Amino acid sequence: MRLSDCHNIDDFRALAKARLPFPVFDYIDGAADDELTKARNTMAYDMVDLVPDVLAGVEEIDTTCTILGRKTALPLMLSPTAVQRAFHWQGETAVAKAGEKFGLWFGISSLATRSIEEIAELTRGPKLFQLYVHKDKGLNTNMIERCQASGFDALALTVDTIVSGKRERCLRSGFTTPPRFTPAGVWSYATRPRWTLDYLFREKFQLPNLNTHVSEGSSKAVSIAEYFNTMLDTSMNWDTAAEIKQQWGGTFVLKGVMSVADARRAVEMGADAIMLSNHGGRQLDGSRAPFDQLPEIVDAVGGRIEIICDGGVRRGTHVLKSLCAGATAASGGRLYLYALAAAGKEGVERALMILKDEIERGMRLMGVHKVDELTQDRIRTR
Ligand code: FNR
Ligand code: LAC
Repeated sequence: MRLSDCHNIDDFRALAKARLPFPVFDYIDGAADDELTKARNTMAYDMVDLVPDVLAGVEEIDTTCTILGRKTALPLMLSPTAVQRAFHWQGETAVAKAGEKFGLWFGISSLATRSIEEIAELTRGPKLFQLYVHKDKGLNTNMIERCQASGFDALALTVDTIVSGKRERCLRSGFTTPPRFTPAGVWSYATRPRWTLDYLFREKFQLPNLNTHVSEGSSKAVSIAEYFNTMLDTSMNWDTAAEIKQQWGGTFVLKGVMSVADARRAVEMGADAIMLSNHGGRQLDGSRAPFDQLPEIVDAVGGRIEIICDGGVRRGTHVLKSLCAGATAASGGRLYLYALAAAGKEGVERALMILKDEIERGMRLMGVHKVDELTQDRIRTR
């Protein structure tokens, strides 16, 4: 299988699986416990059908919209995800450049393998920094100040990782950051020489936004679960969120809100957006799918705060359904991560081209000219 054989996100997944050592692939693909939530995040879209209009004259259509005050080419964002250098040697650079090319918002994680400054240099496109609140307050302040100095457009505070989810694939494989060659994975590393040679001989793996304060993750190998459970602040609450928002002083997003009560509090605290998300099913297994939860959130806070539906998106029609249900935009991680892992920047560009094409085709087949014509009357629940 080659990159030119990839025609949808599942194809990139298959190619990534063939090219990556299994501990690395399973870190991307895996989720918590029985992975029910991960599966439902995508399945939720199958339970809602589109009702198209015809004879609408759709020669010209406009897929642009405004997200967090910035015009973007598609109602789709690239969610922040950790340790991309472990998936492909080009890491976040590939995603930043591809995001810019396609005119999309993209985010880097606190656990990014490129620095805040490097990313800011690389792209003029809208970029978000995802903050993990560490016990080390100096580190939190340091990251916020670096984002301010570098002109990041938004800060997303992730609120659904107060402790780590139970990621059983990682328990079995022994995946760590930085990746280590474990006995369980040794055969897999040996039979994926392209990944292994790139990992060993290209630039060194590190977490440059953290390593000024902590060695875990950069020079000291730890699992992601260990990192979360030892480094992050388990006492984080609404006061912490308000302090971070104030310290940042710019466009502010709460990532990982699921309940109506929390969405209301997000409005009260003056957040600009919520990312309705269960972290791609990687945290609380059994948590409801963002798309299923969307109607009640839209009922409660729609029009007062932007609502970004994050997780499970694998098709252009999933984006369209999210908008019909009242989201400002859809967002996803694995939709570009499989492609990054499979083929670096070229892969991400191909994945984004496919999604753009699916969104455009879907809009034409729906008889829709503009994103704001994607309204509730165009969907039905089974
Ligand atoms: C993530 N996600 C994530 N979220 C976050 O706030 N900080 C992070 O560092 C990461 N890291 C991360 C790594 C990997 C490998 C994945 C798959 C996900 C969650 C991410 O932002 C997003 O919420 C999910 O990816 C959405 O689900 P889908 O689109 O992958 O189904
Ligand atoms: C994850 C992180 C790092 O989901 O957020 O693995």
